[in-house]
Amino acid sequence: MFSTDRIGILTAGGDCPGLNAVIHGAVRSAAQHGMEVVGFNNGFEGLLDLESVHLLTPMDTLDLVSKGGTVLKTTNRGHFGVTHGMDQRVELSSDLLYQVQANLETLGVRGLICVGGDGSLAIAERLFTFGIPTVGVPKTIDNDVSATAFSFGFDSAVHCATDALDRLHTTAESHGRVICLEVMGRYAGWIALHAGIAGEADAILIPEFPWKVEHLIKTLNDRIRARGFGLVVVAEGVGAPLEGDDACEFQPRLSGAAREVSKQIAPHLDCEIREVVLGHLQRGGSPTAFDRTLATQYGAHAVKLILEGHVGHMVCYQPPHMQAVQLSEATHVSRVTPDCSIVKAARAMGVCFGDGITAAATPFASCAGDETAACVPQLAR
Ligand code: F6P
Repeated sequence: MFSTDRIGILTAGGDCPGLNAVIHGAVRSAAQHGMEVVGFNNGFEGLLDLESVHLLTPMDTLDLVSKGGTVLKTTNRGHFGVTHGMDQRVELSSDLLYQVQANLETLGVRGLICVGGDGSLAIAERLFTFGIPTVGVPKTIDNDVSATAFSFGFDSAVHCATDALDRLHTTAESHGRVICLEVMGRYAGWIALHAGIAGEADAILIPEFPWKVEHLIKTLNDRIRARGFGLVVVAEGVGAPLEGDDACEFQPRLSGAAREVSKQIAPHLDCEIREVVLGHLQRGGSPTAFDRTLATQYGAHAVKLILEGHVGHMVCYQPPHMQAVQLSEATHVSRVTPDCSIVKAARAMGVCFGDGITAAATPFASCAGDETAACVPQLAR
């Protein structure tokens, strides 16, 4: 019944707009090469459940490119939870690895595409070092996988956060208030940074830059005097993990960054303040055209890597090219650094990072020598 020359695909970790577009790209391009694709449900958990494995045909991918979420479902819990804080890993048992290997052999899978963030890519690498032929596709709305300039889902999340800021702009302006918007970004503040610039925030607080309450208060009171209201974007990583959180032993939940910031500055502001937590709205819904295109390319390129025998690699986008890096090189977290051109541009716009550094201290003109001249995330480790 089964062919012995197949590609497998799974989506793991948190969901994100564009996962279905990767599946669409992989299934359609595999079909062009006469290969069958099988889908595993619920991330890596599906590798243990042969009953739920199903064939994916090009007909199954009709209308998939624009659909949010993942038809293969996903989870960041279960037997394969490996992330425990940034860049810390726990081991997978050899019993588990042998079982996965046997199941893939039974299905005739010659290459397994693992779509996920840094934790899931670390699992893909662990499977590969055990001898299981995996290829990684970077997925995270946080855009914090170092080896790729962009992971799909990021643009959609920035779009959602910018839309929220545009809406908050008019209500803050009408009431003469400060509104503080909390966006996702566990270890890296890329969403806050990009949306903050696109949505004309007065201040952007990110986990990478320590902030002081007095700098934020001064900026906001100046803005209230000048334009009558203020907008602050806070990345969730600025807050502390939820106390007593036992929802997941591998990755504590974050929440409350906007509340905390607001509590600290409210008594010193010349107006009222409100907080909004955008949360999982950023992960839901239809991907932007950019993310659809990027994710489709990732799916097609992942198939190409398997056909050419380059397993153990992750596809990555270094504009204008799709490339590949070894999975072992792929899972470092990319974070915002003070010398990023986009940070300098924000300071040049008068945006406050709460660190007391002004545009005069980091002249925008010095961006001329940046390797990455455009405002794209830097590939910092
Ligand atoms: O890693 C992506 C991310 O969106 C983080 O920004 C956030 O902390 C986390 O996922 C939330 O995950 P969950 O869906 O488990 O609440």
